[in-house]
Amino acid sequence: MRPTNAPDPELRAKVVKRDIDNVLHPLVQHRQLEKSPTVVTGGQGSTIYDADGTAYLDGMAGLWCVNIGYGRTELAQVAAEQMQQLAYYPHTAMNLPAAQLAEQVNGLLGGGYHVYFVNSGSEANEAGFKIARQYYKNEAPGEGRYKTIGRYFAYHGTTLSTLAAGGMGERKMKFEPLGGGDFVHVAQPTCYRCPFGLSYPSCNLACVKNIENTILGEGPETVAEVLVEPIMSGVGIAVPPDEYLPEVEKICRKYGVLLHVDEVINGFGRTGKLFGHQHYNVSPDIIAIAKGISSAYLPIAATVVKNNVFNAFLGEVSEGRHVVQVNTYGGHPAAAAVAVRNIEIMLEEKLVDRAAEMGKYLMDGLRTLLHHPWVGDVRGKGLLQGIELVKDRQTKEPVDGTQIQGVVDFCRKQGVIVGRSGGGRNYSNTIALSPPLVITRAECDRIVETLGKAIAAMGAQMLA
Ligand SMILES: Cc1ncc(COP(=O)(O)O)c(C=O)c1O
Repeated sequence: MRPTNAPDPELRAKVVKRDIDNVLHPLVQHRQLEKSPTVVTGGQGSTIYDADGTAYLDGMAGLWCVNIGYGRTELAQVAAEQMQQLAYYPHTAMNLPAAQLAEQVNGLLGGGYHVYFVNSGSEANEAGFKIARQYYKNEAPGEGRYKTIGRYFAYHGTTLSTLAAGGMGERKMKFEPLGGGDFVHVAQPTCYRCPFGLSYPSCNLACVKNIENTILGEGPETVAEVLVEPIMSGVGIAVPPDEYLPEVEKICRKYGVLLHVDEVINGFGRTGKLFGHQHYNVSPDIIAIAKGISSAYLPIAATVVKNNVFNAFLGEVSEGRHVVQVNTYGGHPAAAAVAVRNIEIMLEEKLVDRAAEMGKYLMDGLRTLLHHPWVGDVRGKGLLQGIELVKDRQTKEPVDGTQIQGVVDFCRKQGVIVGRSGGGRNYSNTIALSPPLVITRAECDRIVETLGKAIAAMGAQMLA
């Protein structure tokens, strides 16, 4: 195996030619990609290497997912051993790694759940919508509940239904119309920019009242579930007030609506607890998990359902209560085996506690950047953090797209990858950080130092 950080110009040239001739990439403009292509060749800890041998400190853990860090070769061993034993069989039958993983996940959630395996966060949410609908079809066929209430500026995935459930206009507009009124939206809990123009706590959680009002307006008998990401990532890392999620749960219980929590990013230690909702002591009915479940070493995800939901799928064969969906790779033995070991590593190395500890350290560092007049807010939990950049702290006018992109590009040139929140028009002025949970203090210092220089350079340009 070639060393991860060895420059390899020949390989680079080969990949670039083949790629440009054949690949269609997500999100990036090919014309731009062609000018400065990055060929990633390896990774170790919190660092990735390109074919030039350049090292980058990855402040985003890929796409918010490589929680245990890069270069864990033992996971390759686990996958190889499982593939020699059994590479694949449909999950209508049972296999050991998937059963182990389900048991592990159920245990981490405190018990009382069953796990339905899929391959991506989008599918996990999508299966959640379908399970919620079928739950009501099975349990209360007369009611016909089918609507999902989501929040504006949320991201829940890339399929048509998960886009519809999310609230990012810019991600949807090329595909609209997205269908009927199955997905209804309420205001998001972004306290720094409260959608109601209020301030916490005198707002009395207007955003929660908005949910109740929407359930009543839609007719509770039509609403199947409320979908929330505990700490919203896409909208610039929005941490809600502590009472928000418990109050949302109360409303769900009051109107017999299921609580569906998206833990795709929040889950598996990212926020300093195993799951984001565990900060708020709520008990969701449906939980979507992905990314950190395998730290992206292999694709695997799941929709986890509380036993009250699971029980609605039990009955005689003739009743047709069973889960009416399947995906070919669900419960894939090799992916499940890798996820099991990934979670073991997370627990053995106490990476959840580490995320809390390093998160505090990183946050303290980022708060020192508040001396820049262009830093409006620093927020987050664990190793999920955002730095919102503004032109003016009083008016909170967001910096322009080119200005925040300048910060991202500056950091990259210095060998540090930071993200930019994808919330769209009003919320894309936040730098996002979601590094591997193995990040060191020195690496946190480097992120803070580099961001400080980048923000100063942006400010100098604004003043020029
Ligand atoms: C909160 C959230 N939910 C769902 C998804 C979709 O996951 P995937 O890209 O694996 O389909 C993402 C992806 O980033 C996400 O951030």
